Order: sequence, then structure tokens, then C-alpha cells
Amino acid sequence: MSTPSVPAFGLSAARAILRGNWRDGFTVPSPRLYPFQWNWDSGFIALGLAYTEPGRALAEIRSMFAGQWATGLLPSINFHRPDANYFPGPEVWRSSEAAAAPAGIATTGITQPPVFAFVLERLLTTPVAQLPEWPAFLAEIYPKVLAFHRYLYTKRDPEGEGLVYIQHNWESGTDNSPAWDAVFAAMDLRGCRDVSQLRRDIRNVDASHRPTHEQYKAYIGLVDLFVRLGYDDTAIARESPFLVQDVLFNSLLARSNQSLLRLGDRLGFPSAEVADWNRRTLAAINRKLWDEEAGHYFSFDLRGQRLLRIRTSSGFGPLFAGAASPAQANRLAAGLTAEFRGGPDWSGCPSTAPSEAAFNPVKYWRGPIWINLNWLIYHGLFRSGHGALAERVKADAIALMERWGGFEYFDPRPVTAGGADQGLGADNFSWTAALYLDFALNAAPL
Ligand code: GLC
Repeated sequence: MSTPSVPAFGLSAARAILRGNWRDGFTVPSPRLYPFQWNWDSGFIALGLAYTEPGRALAEIRSMFAGQWATGLLPSINFHRPDANYFPGPEVWRSSEAAAAPAGIATTGITQPPVFAFVLERLLTTPVAQLPEWPAFLAEIYPKVLAFHRYLYTKRDPEGEGLVYIQHNWESGTDNSPAWDAVFAAMDLRGCRDVSQLRRDIRNVDASHRPTHEQYKAYIGLVDLFVRLGYDDTAIARESPFLVQDVLFNSLLARSNQSLLRLGDRLGFPSAEVADWNRRTLAAINRKLWDEEAGHYFSFDLRGQRLLRIRTSSGFGPLFAGAASPAQANRLAAGLTAEFRGGPDWSGCPSTAPSEAAFNPVKYWRGPIWINLNWLIYHGLFRSGHGALAERVKADAIALMERWGGFEYFDPRPVTAGGADQGLGADNFSWTAALYLDFALNAAPL
């Protein structure tokens, strides 16, 4: 990739994005496409705020946990204030009718990958840890993160396997991954309403990069089902067609458990429960989600009782969790440099391997490079002894951002093979800016 003489992006541009997306207490992922507070975005964003305005990192996390339900569920979105430029908004989720939802704030009734424990641990290596209010803040948030994990282990693991399931593709974080296609293909859409006229996403970005109307029908069909079932997890586990043990979600949960253990030690919290979760999840990831023949990890479809064998970047999650053995890590590293690269000049780790039939280099989670996944893969490779490859992933991610700017995602093809413009989706994207800062300013391993 050629380097332009004036980078499109750098430390001050990243800081400016975070400043511009701050909304008096929390940060929107991007002003145009995502006008509320998102769960895992908020965790990554806190890592960037740590280097710009450390006090805001605490406010960001605190306002995310203001949406936590009495069950412990941490919602995927807090609708802090109304904004008509998004669908599905609070009128679809109807959280105010759910007994467990918090008073005074509308939220969704589903969650996103559990990042906050490792985010809190990483904040220890940033200027945030110098704030006088940090120790009290940590003691305040720790039990809330613990309650979230306890919710996952008690409500989302009915067979006690050590693997929790997601109820919706929007809980995976990798919303439009081709891994979910087989699950949706088996879903009966006859009772689902058509929402094509209500969508806002396709008015704000290129519709060909976004999910289809048929996919949206299924997505909203699931939400309508949850509302009808009063967000009762037992009823959802019984009736819903979408129950998936997602490999990235469980990997981040395991890694977060490890952070909870270390943070709990400092704070004097008992650790047996968390240690047990950690052991069981690490073992179950390898028992159930590893495919020896493919040399990759996949998610498991509980309804169809099958592995969803599509190579996606989520399959590198177990490196970050410390679940992969040295032999498994070697296979993953080899796969990253073979199946995940379409040619010698390709950079970074695409969200879906170019060797997959479903690969699409410009479509939302079906090929483009996402900075948060590349940041997780960098730390995962580093943790499992693949430092040189880790540095390459990091250098590629930084080069993409500096060349194109703070976009939501990037076309993985080199300019020679792809379009003229590799920066895609929303611009001024908060976690891209935040993780650029963390990449550039914090060399500590995670
Ligand atoms: C998209 C992504 C999801 C993210 C959200 C807000 O829906 O798939 O992971 O949290 O945007 O940025």
C-alpha cells in the first residue's frame, strides 16, 4: 500500500472524532448512522477517551451501565434521548413494558459482546488510573460487570455447558456475518412484518453495503418475538429460531472473566465463581467450537445442532481468550496468512475469508476489515506468541486508517484490485478513532 505524503488521519484527527461524537455524558458510534450509545462500542471508546479526556472514559462507562436491567443484562443500545434517524428505535423494543428494565431510560432488550472487564483492566495502563476518583469508580462498576456475566451464565446457558448463547445476530457484534445465513435460511418468515419502509440505514449509507430487506424482516421478526414473550429468557430459549453459541462472544466473555479475576483480587472480591466460569468456558470453546480439519473455530447453532462452518474473523477470538493451545494457535496463524489473504498485497484481517463463497469485500461484515476485530486479533496473536504476525496486523490497521481516515470499515483489497476508495460505511467512526489512539499510544500487552 502506498503512503500518501499527507496522512488522512492521525492522533489529532482521532481526538477530533471523539470530541465531535461526545454527547454530554456518552459517545455516539457515528453521528449519521448510529445516534445513540452502543454497548461494546462504548467499551472500545472508553479506551480512546482514556488518552484524550480521561474523566470522560469514566462517564462513558457509567452512562452505559445506567441502562443495565435488574436481571444483569447490559443492553446493546441505550436510547438516552430521542432521535428519529434510526430504526428500530424504542417504539419497537418497548423496554418500558418489561419489569426488569431500568426506569427513566429506554434500551433494547438484547445485549452485545462482554468487553467491559478487559476494558477496565486495560484502563489500569492509561492516564485514567491516575484519576483520584478511579479506585472508587472501579469498586462501583466491578459488581455491575459481575452481575452481567452472572446473567449470561444463568440465563444463556440452559444446559450448563460453559458456553452462552446469543439470541439475535445483533448480539454477536458481527451483525451481518455470513455465518448466520444458514440459521436464517431455516427460519419461517411468514409471520414477520415487512419493515423496508421504516429502515433508516439505507438512506444514510450505500444500500448495497447493507443487509437486504428480507434479512431485516428476520431481524425485526426476532425482536417482535422477544417483546411478545416479555423478554423472558426461558421462553425465548424454548421458542426462538435463533440460538447460537457465538465464538467471539464466548471468547470475549472468557477474556473478561480473566480480567474480573485479577481486578477482583485487587478489590478483595471472592473469586471461586468467576474462576469456575473461566475454566468451563475455555474448555468448552475447545471441546465444541474447534474444527480440527479446518484449523479454525466456528460458532455452534443450537437449533440446528451444527457448527456454522464459515471462516470469519470471529474464529480468531480464542487467541484473545487464551483458549487456543500452541498447536491451535499455529493453525490459526497459518490460516490468517493463507485463507484470509486474497493475494500478496492484501492487508489486515478481513471479517470473512476471501476463500469463502459468501465473501464480499464491501458488504457489512461479509469481507471488509473492522478495526476492533483487528485490534483483538493483534492482542490475541501477541498473547499466543505470534508477535511478528501481530505487528503486521497492527501496522496494516494503522496504515489503512492513515491512508483513508476514521471509517467504520475498509475494503481489504489493495487499491490495484479493488475500488479507488477503501474507507467504507460511516465516517468519523468512534471506535476506529479510539483504537487508533490505543494502538498508537499504548504498547502494553493485554
Ligand atoms: C453495527 C455493528 C455493531 C456496532 C454498531 C454500532 O451495527 O455491526 O457491531 O456495535 O454498528 O457501531
